[in-house]
Amino acid sequence: MIKIKDITFNDPLTIASGIIPDVPNYVTTVCEKYKPSAITTKTVTLNPLGPHKPPTVIKLHDGIYMNAIGLGNPGAKAINEMNVSCPLIVSVGGASINEIKEVVKVIESKAKIIEINVSSPNRKGYGESLSTLIGDIVENVKSVTRLPVFVKLGPWDNVVELAGRALEKGADGFTLINTIRGLIVDIETFKPILYYGTGGVSGRCLYPVALRIIRDVYEEYGVDIIGVGGVYDWTDVIGMLAVGAKLVGLGTVLIEKGFSIIEEIRKGLQSYLFEKGLKFEDIIGISVRR
Ligand SMILES: Cc1cc2nc3c(=O)[nH]c(=O)nc-3n(C[C@H](O)[C@H](O)[C@H](O)COP(=O)(O)O)c2cc1C
Repeated sequence: MIKIKDITFNDPLTIASGIIPDVPNYVTTVCEKYKPSAITTKTVTLNPLGPHKPPTVIKLHDGIYMNAIGLGNPGAKAINEMNVSCPLIVSVGGASINEIKEVVKVIESKAKIIEINVSSPNRKGYGESLSTLIGDIVENVKSVTRLPVFVKLGPWDNVVELAGRALEKGADGFTLINTIRGLIVDIETFKPILYYGTGGVSGRCLYPVALRIIRDVYEEYGVDIIGVGGVYDWTDVIGMLAVGAKLVGLGTVLIEKGFSIIEEIRKGLQSYLFEKGLKFEDIIGISVRR
């Protein structure tokens, strides 16, 4: 049994933010059919936000994608229409500290964990643009909720420092990591292929980056971490737990392989644990010296 505060999870397999749209019936179906341990909503803002024009998602290679949806979402109220038995990690965003705080107030009753998105690279003024305000954002969010507050950070050089600032203001954990900003140009038009220009690169290439960052943050603070980035099979999950993640978010793998991969990964994990005589709790952080 994995515990974050007083919430328990049978296994670490969760769905990362942005993989399921904030459509209540869809979220319910995925929960009931594929039974992830938790579902992270797509980031919601206070009011609906239109996505960027297409193309918004492209496949670069097997296992590697790039997207610039731009945090398009139906607005925070959509979360309150969700009736799901899976615990919801509600990803909140906004263009200001105040907007993020207001979003938290709207969605609070549906969430088990709040995940503050200050790391999406795909919309100016949102996500990554607010990362330097992290201390103030956490302080404000903590003033309006008693739920565990996680902060989602990106693959940057100053993650450990930013995490420290968030912890000083009461953050309960981190989701590591978001996509890395990338660029692909069309060699006929010489223009970026994604309408937005740059996009967030996701998938297998992120895995070693995610592991390194999770390890760095866990080593420094020993804090609760939801690991995300390039997880494709059960061996990836074990590696991520070993460097300190308690839960693991599946992202691009679900887009590429479909939701049935959850059960396949789960079976692989169960066989491994059985053969080794281990529980998930035995593995979390095992390869990090603290
Ligand atoms: C299509 C798409 C949409 C995403 N939307 C969001 C989002 O709204 N909020 C967020 O915090 N992360 C978002 N992400 C990032 C993922 O949650 C995850 O951090 C990232 O893709 C790395 O994991 P992966 O390599 O397993 O996909 C999105 C990723 C993809 C591929």
